[in-house]
Amino acid sequence: MPARPQGDVTRGTTAPNRLRRVDRWITWRCAAALRAASEPLVVDLGFGGSPVTTLELHARLVRLRPDVRVVGVEIDPERVTAASAYSRPGLSFVRGGFELPVNGRPVVVRAMNVLRQYDEAQVAPAWGQLLGRLAPDGVLIDGTCDEIGRRATWVTASTAGPESLSFSAHLASLDRPSQLAERLPKALIHRNVPGEPIHDLLALLDEHWARTAPYSSFGPSQRWRAMVESASDAWDIARQPARWQLGELTVPWASVAPSSPLAG
Ligand SMILES: C[S@@+](CC[C@H](N)C(=O)[O-])C[C@H]1O[C@@H](n2cnc3c(N)ncnc32)[C@H](O)[C@@H]1O
Repeated sequence: MPARPQGDVTRGTTAPNRLRRVDRWITWRCAAALRAASEPLVVDLGFGGSPVTTLELHARLVRLRPDVRVVGVEIDPERVTAASAYSRPGLSFVRGGFELPVNGRPVVVRAMNVLRQYDEAQVAPAWGQLLGRLAPDGVLIDGTCDEIGRRATWVTASTAGPESLSFSAHLASLDRPSQLAERLPKALIHRNVPGEPIHDLLALLDEHWARTAPYSSFGPSQRWRAMVESASDAWDIARQPARWQLGELTVPWASVAPSSPLAG
């Protein structure tokens, strides 16, 4: 008898195209690893009440790697049964949890809006379990976004542990960068309080956003870019101007990691 899937069934909320920002990151960050992989396996963990974002992930990755194998893993058996109608070559669905019951080691595990519904203390053990399943140059993307995908943040972690935190926003509807705080991954959402690095970073970005207000006349992307340039004097922000143009920015995990380690 197979072991019980690791984790809990949670709300299955999803929506078409809500993960476009993180998928855009994946197709950039993971392109080389996917192209080089002898086994181009990608897992979408916790696809939710409809497999629509798994279908989208497959459609985006197949352009990079025509033989990519995307497996949607979901702990709710009824959601897996319903999703199975959408299986096709290179795309399948299985019931499972953090143990990832798939053959092979994934190059990418996308876990969007999954850990958000757990306790903070459950994050480190879940990361440990997922990272232990990755291919040697694989990554875990653990993130959160809003209902329609205009604001998203995610942690990118390799087998060595968490490496970065990324923010991505629809800039025309963003009043200030700290609005992304509501969408922080579970590892950080409770740490947005004075004395924690993530709180300092969001305050710094807000300060530089205010300072760069005159750039608004050139459009929100130019203002975001100017804000990142300006804040880079005070914080280690990855120098990725082409990503800034998209309303993204990425910082090393070490610069925002909670002041007391995640329990686990
Ligand atoms: C909010 S939905 C997210 C859907 C989709 N990923 C998205 O972001 O639009 C979270 C889903 O994760 C599933 N889930 C939670 N814990 C899980 C686990 N340990 N393994 C697999 N699925 C899990 C839940 O049952 C739920 O269907």
